[in-house]
Amino acid sequence: MITLGINYSQMHDSSACIVRDGELLFAVAEERISRLKHDAAFPKNAIRACLDFAKVGAEQLDEVCFGWQTAGPVFRHDLKCYATGKMPLTYLNGLNSTLHFLSMWHQESGAKKFAQQFGPTKAKMRFVDHHLAHAISAYAYSGFEDAAVVVMDGRGAWEATTIWHGHNGRLDPLLMIPFPDSVGYFYSAFTEFLGFQPNSDEWKVMGLAPYGKRGVDLSAFIDVKAVPYRVHTKQLAANGAASSASIAALLGPARVAESNIDDRHKDIAYAVQELCEIAMMRVVRMAVEKTGSRNVCLAGGVALNSKANGKILASGIVDRFFVQPAASDDGVALGAALAPYLDNNGKVPIKAMRHGYWGPSFDDEAIESVLRTYKLRYARLTDPASTAAELLSQGKILGWFQGRMEFGPRALGSRSILADPRDPEMNTKVNNAVKFREWWRPFAPSLKKEAAGEYLESASDSPFMILTAQVRPEKRSVIPSVTHVDGSARPQTVEKEINPLYWRLIDEFGKRTGVPVIMNTSFNLRGEAIVHTPTDAIRTFFSSGMNALVIGSFLVEK
Ligand SMILES: [Fe+2]
Repeated sequence: MITLGINYSQMHDSSACIVRDGELLFAVAEERISRLKHDAAFPKNAIRACLDFAKVGAEQLDEVCFGWQTAGPVFRHDLKCYATGKMPLTYLNGLNSTLHFLSMWHQESGAKKFAQQFGPTKAKMRFVDHHLAHAISAYAYSGFEDAAVVVMDGRGAWEATTIWHGHNGRLDPLLMIPFPDSVGYFYSAFTEFLGFQPNSDEWKVMGLAPYGKRGVDLSAFIDVKAVPYRVHTKQLAANGAASSASIAALLGPARVAESNIDDRHKDIAYAVQELCEIAMMRVVRMAVEKTGSRNVCLAGGVALNSKANGKILASGIVDRFFVQPAASDDGVALGAALAPYLDNNGKVPIKAMRHGYWGPSFDDEAIESVLRTYKLRYARLTDPASTAAELLSQGKILGWFQGRMEFGPRALGSRSILADPRDPEMNTKVNNAVKFREWWRPFAPSLKKEAAGEYLESASDSPFMILTAQVRPEKRSVIPSVTHVDGSARPQTVEKEINPLYWRLIDEFGKRTGVPVIMNTSFNLRGEAIVHTPTDAIRTFFSSGMNALVIGSFLVEK
């Protein structure tokens, strides 16, 4: 059976993946190909890339599986929220709901778009409940036969938080908290209030939080004394005003985008993060109690909160912990594509996901052709890992473009910008020269898995940079540029068997410096999608202050 998984909601993060006989072959987010960050358009480029990789045509697909219900249930739930007063029926809210419904209905929730783009197919069009798709994406790829599965996001058609019991390849729903009682909605509203892009820049609030202090009272917006939590949506969007305006009525003016960050903003970020952590911990605790399983799987956009994830792991309430690395809506394609396996009392195939390299790759021939096209001076390397390690040890900032592109928001050594984490100024250097991003956002380390215990207090198995750990106090001054102000880091532990080239780069850096840790940030400029093709990499390289680019077996220097 060949199934295509799709995320298409017109909201954010359109994506596609292809699965053959239960095995994931390929996955890519539309944004990487279209170059529009969080692209919400129908993922025609991503689908084409999936079909090309699997060498199949649309007519050979058995099922096309969307990670959302059809337009109707989303609209019906919106109407219910307005009718019951859970969401204010403002002109704008009503218009948005109606336009979304009409647009999706006209496109048959994506089925018509698929037929227009790819021609007739015998494939069954399937529309999977959004949280079920998230839940499968966490459970099936966790490797756990028995698990407590938690999904928390902004919203599905009707869901905001769900708990599932995964056992023997099946998923039983145990709890559903409907939208708008949503931790994701709460976090996004404050992301916007703090002058950032909601459903995109929640990282920035999380990174800012440790600079603040406790003291801001947000109990008007979220009640964490309720079990497991209660979001006061009416207060968040009071009197029909937009979220930021209604928050401002209690907390003072919203921050203007790109303006200075003051102590008030930091303290609000602190409170938002702390309450999110409490709510997540509560839901996870409830899931463990309801299922009797201490193997916990997480998905949904809220599960991208790596700080909260790190605290859940360190709390001792879980034994084994898997967070789907594509936790946001790009990842529902993965779950949707496996949904047909649940038919007729069937089971989803359970296989631990150990890496994120599911995207396109470019061989040396293709890369060299691009280098020649642009008439660039380049050298062919006999040992790219060793050369890269040498350049890093000299303080150079490197573009590193190798192998299959990552699926999910993190760069894990395929499309990465690398630097020396020992230099306390490196954070500033990379920020100023390359990323042009906010000063408070931390950079993350990639380290040899063998060295995790030496540098970290927990998270010795963290292949996806989706949970934070405390850096051992004696190591914080050794790798200052990847240690956050609160002593935490968001590590990627790299295994030799899984990414031998990247592991060797870190190993070679360790041989030269005594520190088998490198700074790894995504290969993109601020506000842009991570690079996909060699051309994207070259353009980004020459639009930034990077010193060198190691691309396939080639070195380009400035
Ligand atoms: Fe979602």
